[in-house]
Amino acid sequence: MKIAIIGTGYVGLCTGVGFASKGNNVVCVDIEEEKVNKINSGVPPIYELDLEDMLKDSIKSKNLRATTKSQEAVSASELILICVGTPSDEKGRIDLRYVNQAAQDIGTALKDCDYKVVAVKSTVIPETVESVVIPILEEYSGKKAGDGFGVCMNPEFLREGSALKDVLHPDRTVIGEFDKRSGDVLERLYKNFNAPILRTKIKVAELIKYANNGFLATKISYSNEIGNICKRLGVDVYDVMKGVGMDHRFSPHFFSAGAGWGGSCFPKDVAALIEKAKELNYEPKLLEEVVAINKRQKVRMVEHLEKRVGDVKDKKISVLGLSFKPNTDDIREASSLDIIKSLVEKGANVFAYDPQAMELMKREFPHINYTENVAESLKDADACLIVTEWDEFKKLKNEDFDSMKTRVILEGRKVLNKDDVPEFDGICW
Ligand code: UGA
Repeated sequence: MKIAIIGTGYVGLCTGVGFASKGNNVVCVDIEEEKVNKINSGVPPIYELDLEDMLKDSIKSKNLRATTKSQEAVSASELILICVGTPSDEKGRIDLRYVNQAAQDIGTALKDCDYKVVAVKSTVIPETVESVVIPILEEYSGKKAGDGFGVCMNPEFLREGSALKDVLHPDRTVIGEFDKRSGDVLERLYKNFNAPILRTKIKVAELIKYANNGFLATKISYSNEIGNICKRLGVDVYDVMKGVGMDHRFSPHFFSAGAGWGGSCFPKDVAALIEKAKELNYEPKLLEEVVAINKRQKVRMVEHLEKRVGDVKDKKISVLGLSFKPNTDDIREASSLDIIKSLVEKGANVFAYDPQAMELMKREFPHINYTENVAESLKDADACLIVTEWDEFKKLKNEDFDSMKTRVILEGRKVLNKDDVPEFDGICW
């Protein structure tokens, strides 16, 4: 199928590369010329596992190319996927400026085209496609949805760090369709993905995405709440949640307690869902508490540290792991931001190390120390906080901590092994 993808962030690019690997003909559109040139020369503008190899393969097989010319890409395609970002505004509501722009560009191109389907993959709050996207497409194309063009909502469930795997092996595909004709086009694309397809209404598909992320965030905050009780009882939350996760009514995934959740999706999506609920005159108390637990959880590491070392002023604190999770350089809403902010305010000397995220973190905290490796960060440290579960940290042995001034080793993620490092102390274990 000929597909145009508008927006080459990690959703757009990974989706495009995934579709190209299945033999589709994909053209990726972005307004940034530099990004487009990189993609065309096989260099991904973001770091994502396997992306570089698969992008190179798709370029070589001529199944994927990138352009800044959206009109041309739309005209050449049967299906147009909107994959632009939907950031939050200052109140936590979603900012639709990129979606609006994409819809205007697509609408203008549709004016002179035969029937095509426009599908929204960007995460948009329920009612957006019907009350914002379709009216813009109709206005700019001069055509009616369902007649001149089709419309679908096709939410994505990709995780950073395993986005390509998630594109190629989804648990399910959700198609929210304006009408049967629109949904049939998407079903044709997804039928060889070997996953169940759920066809539903557009508004339902929009809410599935938010309810999904909201529940995953709730699961983690719940584990963190149980974890805080575990810590006081002297038990390991992982032993507890292992038993809970064996109940067939749950799944064992996303029960890992720790220093709180972050990233570009959960914080933004839960905040937007809360705002939408309020707009609908509903007070979403559970979701608000899920966010509040998370906020407190992030700085619990520092409280824990103070219990162990007292005042942190002028103490050397090694912070290992800055990205919001391993295998990415993304630091958006990372727990490390709150932890470092609190340490800096209290006058600690922070020595941070991360295998990928230091360049981005330097923009947020230019005045803390960044080290070349773990050893340098640990040398003469009064304490060490492990904030992201990179594989590199899992390999640390007891002797790696010998150079510390005092052996205060606190984990915000389950990383170390008691057999290897007997003295570590976990946030919920
Ligand atoms: C999340 C969802 O998992 C994807 O399904 C969704 O498509 C994506 O948001 C999105 O909306 O685009 P992502 O933000 O990439 O994906 O990362 P996750 O792997 O879900 O992790 C999010 C945060 O939760 C991280 O800070 C991670 O450390 C934390 N987490 C995750 C836990 O604290 N415990 C867990 O058990 C799992």
